[in-house]
Amino acid sequence: MPSTTNHWSLPYPQADQRRHEVALTHAVQRVFASGSYILGAEVEAFETEFAAFLGCGQVVGAASGTDAIELILRALDIGAGSKVAVPSFAPSAVAAGVARSGAKPEFVDIEPGTFTLCPEALDDLLRSFRGRGVKATVVVHLYGHPADWESLQRVADEHGIELLEDCAQAHGAIWHGRRVGTLGRAAAFSFYPTKNLAALGDAGAVATNDAALAERLRVIRQYGWKQRYVSEQAGVNSRLDELQAAVLRVKLGALNESVLQRRRLAAQYDARFAASRVVTAPKVRGGCEHAYHQYVVRCERRDALMQHLQQSGIPVAALYPVPLHRQRAYGNGEELLLESDRAAAAVLSLPMHPYLSEEAMGAVFEAMERFEP
Ligand SMILES: Cc1ncc(COP(=O)(O)O)c(C=O)c1O
Repeated sequence: MPSTTNHWSLPYPQADQRRHEVALTHAVQRVFASGSYILGAEVEAFETEFAAFLGCGQVVGAASGTDAIELILRALDIGAGSKVAVPSFAPSAVAAGVARSGAKPEFVDIEPGTFTLCPEALDDLLRSFRGRGVKATVVVHLYGHPADWESLQRVADEHGIELLEDCAQAHGAIWHGRRVGTLGRAAAFSFYPTKNLAALGDAGAVATNDAALAERLRVIRQYGWKQRYVSEQAGVNSRLDELQAAVLRVKLGALNESVLQRRRLAAQYDARFAASRVVTAPKVRGGCEHAYHQYVVRCERRDALMQHLQQSGIPVAALYPVPLHRQRAYGNGEELLLESDRAAAAVLSLPMHPYLSEEAMGAVFEAMERFEP
């Protein structure tokens, strides 16, 4: 008899809220009483506390991770007439953020082992006709695994382009002793309710060590105002609200421990799949610490395995099923991006969050064992 779904009755966002219920209630009441609901003391405190967590100079709150990408590009004057290189194997939000700035996303292939941007592929793009006009690259630390920053930096320096981070899935990941979000000129974060650091709605931020850039971001996120009601330049409305900031301050205090728990669960999966003929466990690059926003295996019979696990009551997903260069909004699939195509056909996200019970992990293992290779 397949496992029942009762191990999964509390998905991550609710489990996270329940874990922090008392502190969240106090935080929300504090905001109610404050009379300040947008860009107030809670946002300022969260920006300071998250900057301290990351070890960077400045954090600027925004309304979402997609907005954070757009804000960075606008603040760097990258927009219409420019191109921005992004990995094709990534969520469409990355391309959406770039497109909202006015720039054109130009797609690059990934490394097969870590699913992150391939430095050689970036170099090839920048030497090609298609790469003309590329001003920046958004490097996605996909699933919580740091990209090959050193090699990417070398390529970016050689071609004189900006290297930006997308850390929407990588809160708590470490690259050679440094937290991701501190590696490039600026980094975008999302705090969507399923993320490692999760708000109770949409929220995002930019991290940077560049104080002048942070100042431009603060101006652009609020109508281009330097002085209230007077726009110095074109801007947008992308503000972090006080309720979300207060929620994030509560959750931030538990981020280290929750990422450690994700790593412990990942180690259990890794041990179980080390000799598997069905799936390949995710690779971790030397010097890096994965944040396991997702635990993603590769499987040549992915669709059959996914169906089997779903029929067994295990919540699994194929993230991401269609590479961006094949999505009608952004491309027509004419680029040859083989690793992105292969990954889209083979990846499977297994259950992963810090509140997974032993029974839930056991149910996954048991269902995996019943799958015939
Ligand atoms: C890698 C990546 N970049 C950007 C985003 C966009 O974040 P948001 O949903 O907060 O706009 C997401 C999340 O959906 C993401 O996973």
